[in-house]
Amino acid sequence: MKLQGKNILVTGGAGFIGSHIVESLLAKGARVTVLDNLQFGRKENLRAVLSDIVFVEGDILDNALLARLMPGMDAVSHQAAQLEILLATSNPLWDLQVNTIGTINILEAAKAAGVEKVVNASSACVYGQKNGATRENDGRHPNWTYGVSKLASEEYCRIYNDSKGLPTVSLRYAIVYGEREWYRRALPIFLKRTIDGRPPVVFGDGRQYRDFIHVSDIVALHDRCLESDAANGLSLNASTGKGVSIAELAALVSRLFHTGEVITENLPEGGVSQLVTDKKRNTDELKSMILDPGEAERLLGWNAVIPLEEGLRREYEWARANPGRWDSIRYTDSK
Ligand SMILES: NC(=O)c1ccc[n+]([C@@H]2O[C@H](COP(=O)([O-])OP(=O)(O)OC[C@H]3O[C@@H](n4cnc5c(N)ncnc54)[C@H](O)[C@@H]3O)[C@@H](O)[C@H]2O)c1
Repeated sequence: MKLQGKNILVTGGAGFIGSHIVESLLAKGARVTVLDNLQFGRKENLRAVLSDIVFVEGDILDNALLARLMPGMDAVSHQAAQLEILLATSNPLWDLQVNTIGTINILEAAKAAGVEKVVNASSACVYGQKNGATRENDGRHPNWTYGVSKLASEEYCRIYNDSKGLPTVSLRYAIVYGEREWYRRALPIFLKRTIDGRPPVVFGDGRQYRDFIHVSDIVALHDRCLESDAANGLSLNASTGKGVSIAELAALVSRLFHTGEVITENLPEGGVSQLVTDKKRNTDELKSMILDPGEAERLLGWNAVIPLEEGLRREYEWARANPGRWDSIRYTDSK
């Protein structure tokens, strides 16, 4: 699909990743409608483009609203979700409603309106614990309820593609970072402490390996999934294939931004930090989350191009220019 002149609905478009997708689609000449309930996202993320889009404050659980919005859309970029691990763990029903039933609502409305393509945001969390670079067919055993709701949502997408005549692609994002990232995870906490003149704090030995991908690389892959039909019906890893431990990440931040020696806090999983205000450590953490991006490269000619150091500098500069954005960690303990 050529994006020029196409009508595209971006759910969750006021969020971190969605807002970057909106900007990219506009730059390619698409007409964009954003649907977001602003529970986790912010209109401020869309500040630069607000006059160029239609913004609808509303919920993907509101089927009457979806039935009104969907006719005339050529494609849907489905980014809306709840992704708080602690909330998904304490309230799995709510997590399932937003992430899975919300996705079914989008698929049903899109099918009824004759939409040509849905690109769905899935997650590396569908795999659970794996060793080394994980491929798409390596088996999925999520450790968190969030991974279950995301896995179910991508399976619904596949069925709508295979049996209901609605082309879909799901992308299993690794750890996405970059400008407008929300404040709760290790990297923004490291960067925020750096900006405040303090060294990063690592909980425990920091030997959890993660695959960090810059948001602009995710957007490039996302757009290619809209433009090409080569990945229809599939779930693809959206990743770099490179593992970096949390301890290495902290050391890199410290080296790049001259913050001094990294501090270690012996915080058990589920514990509340003494050093990072309001930070609760996740439970059931994975030892390793590294995804092989080879299939996306083979099918779509895409690979991640932003080196980690470059991406960190971009996020750091953005955070410095937007001092209010990372004031406090907010946990949403209920809907
Ligand atoms: N950030 C990552 O590292 C990462 C990794 C894997 C997968 N993902 C997936 O990528 C997508 C975007 O994540 P993000 O990091 O930009 O998070 P985000 O919280 O910044 O964006 C999600 C957006 O969805 C909106 N939303 C939530 N529930 C909604 C509802 N019921 N109706 C309408 N809007 C609703 C929120 O207000 C928010 O703006 C999500 O589907 C997430 O599961 C993200």
